[in-house]
Amino acid sequence: MPKAQHILPYTVYPKGEGLSIEDCDLVTQAKAATQTSYSPYSHFCVGAALRLENGVVVCGSNQENAAYPAGSCAERTAMFYANAQYPDVAPVCIAIAARRADEVNFLEQPISPCGICRQVLIETETRYKVPIRVLLYGENAVYELDGISYLLPFQFDSSAL
Ligand code: THU
Repeated sequence: MPKAQHILPYTVYPKGEGLSIEDCDLVTQAKAATQTSYSPYSHFCVGAALRLENGVVVCGSNQENAAYPAGSCAERTAMFYANAQYPDVAPVCIAIAARRADEVNFLEQPISPCGICRQVLIETETRYKVPIRVLLYGENAVYELDGISYLLPFQFDSSAL
């Protein structure tokens, strides 16, 4: 049988060069959000900045807990806050950046959301029927994806229920 395949297109911006001013600004806000990270266990600071359709930017950072699974990643912190504060406004773009607590530089390669965050992000994309562009920041390159579904093929959603 022929193999079916998913195609995962993404754009690479070496050193972030070529990003629009708006996207650069969102990345800057994601980097700044790492300063609010509460990560005494992993010492790994993650920031996420979410631009909404109305232009508002909501930021979040990872919030850890002594009971490890009770913590939240930066992406979910930002997304749940946005959904709670602006339930009628679609998020349209998310930028994510990370650095180690004892380092000023950010990771060289982009980091990518964990599986649980992908599931949460895709729920929001489905809910508002608007693709959420993704900007994954690394010092060496920024990756841009045109929607969360590229991060989560074979996604589970409410159509199966
Ligand atoms: N983390 C995030 O906040 N986002 C990601 O995309 C990956 C991981 C957090 C969770 C935990 O606080 C720390 O990074 C180490 O896994």
